[in-house]
Amino acid sequence: MAVGKSSRHYLGESESVEIQHGGRRRTTSSLDTPYVLVLTPRYILIGIFSLGFAVSFSYFCLSSGSHFQDNASVPTDPVEGVVEEVGQLPFMGYNTWNAYHCEINETLIRETADNVIKLGLADVGYNYVNVDDCYSEKNRSEAGDIIANAERFPSGMRNLTDFIHGLGLKAGIYSDSGWFTCALYPGSFQNEERDARLFNVEWGFDLLKYDNCAVPFDEIIKEGMVGKFTRMSNAIRDLAKETGRAPMLYSLCQWGREEPWLWARELGQAWRSTPDIEDTWRSIAGIINANSFITWANNFYGYNDMDILEVGNGGLNYEESKTHFTAWAFMKSPLLVGTHLATITEETLSILKNKEIIAINQDPVVGTSVTPFRWGVNPDWTSNTTHPAQYWSGKSENGTVFMLINVLDESADMTFNLTESPWMKAGRQYAVRDLWTHTDNGTAVRSFTAKAVPAHGVVALLMKDDGDEPKGTEPPCQREEWCMDKNGTRIDDIGFEPW
Ligand code: GAL
Repeated sequence: MAVGKSSRHYLGESESVEIQHGGRRRTTSSLDTPYVLVLTPRYILIGIFSLGFAVSFSYFCLSSGSHFQDNASVPTDPVEGVVEEVGQLPFMGYNTWNAYHCEINETLIRETADNVIKLGLADVGYNYVNVDDCYSEKNRSEAGDIIANAERFPSGMRNLTDFIHGLGLKAGIYSDSGWFTCALYPGSFQNEERDARLFNVEWGFDLLKYDNCAVPFDEIIKEGMVGKFTRMSNAIRDLAKETGRAPMLYSLCQWGREEPWLWARELGQAWRSTPDIEDTWRSIAGIINANSFITWANNFYGYNDMDILEVGNGGLNYEESKTHFTAWAFMKSPLLVGTHLATITEETLSILKNKEIIAINQDPVVGTSVTPFRWGVNPDWTSNTTHPAQYWSGKSENGTVFMLINVLDESADMTFNLTESPWMKAGRQYAVRDLWTHTDNGTAVRSFTAKAVPAHGVVALLMKDDGDEPKGTEPPCQREEWCMDKNGTRIDDIGFEPW
């Protein structure tokens, strides 16, 4: 799809969320730390259902194949003359801001790009190297162009993008929709076409992050937020038409102001949905909470951007870092590494390079996000910046994905009934894959318990249909409400009387 309109075709696909309150919970499987599945004796015979598994697995393969066909045939709306689409999946890469702020230069960025390759980050999908604020001189040239800072980028930007492209990576640049950037370097207001051409054609950048500082007075701009960001979208689109090349990926950054999830899909491929991230658990929890209410806005070619990752920067412990990374990945945020690569630890790398987590983010078949099916410690739909929703699920190419977040300050068991998730089938059992321990953890029937999830920790699971559940599993309905025998006998004890 080209920049602009076609993404709207995907909006119709956004699934609505059905929130179900579980009835009595019957734990038939559980997850300990280290994760071990415990099965009650009655389910030990489940092996005999392997035939059922084979049948259902083939069915699953067939049905996901047809899903792929559906998505592949969704009509896109390419801009005339634009041959390539950009931003179908959340973009992945490196961004300079969280680690370096304004202390950037060409040597550092070359080294960073080298490290993206050497550390194997490119191999798992991180393929953009994005230069954030502070790369330019404070004033434009006499001709009106932004100039690369002579001291910090003496070889010029073209040289830098040639180097980055030479490594097989893509390059991103930054500007602002107002008079200045947030660090008070030149912004692009009233220079949109000139700057789009400079960034893309002259300098060779493939992505533009576009910020929201130094807003012109109302009597000058006579536009709201949407109009202000449309100006650069149009410039990028027109330029792509003219050159016949892929448009720059347009990544809007107005911190969630004026509800970009309602309109930014028409302009670009990602939009910051929340204010600047900080390297604290409080910030991570707050961003997860805010985004839990707008997960429906994510789908191919348009994503809530939860901001550059803080993994590796010291403010989050191991469990919190895994939670941070899982939430960003499963909620389909762009994944931008934001730490010092020269001194990165193996532990940080093991988080950022978790292929099974990344596979959910980069799912080529399912573009939608995980969504809470139960908030947990809070009543459903509660907005709570320190205690966001805890029980999440979503569709994926290979099954239903679950994310359990322990928002408490101490470890806790976390249990859910499988069909609390709208993507699970009653009467079936599920093979459980743990996406952090990278182990197959047995079969879940009816419900699942993760034991002793660490404080602020996460459990990430992929559940695949594994055939019929054992005959005679009680109660007759996993979801009790209105459970009824063929002969009209009400099985539930909810107490509701029909009219
Ligand atoms: C902020 C933006 C940050 C960074 C910074 C640069 O507005 O949210 O991600 O780009 O500006 O000044």
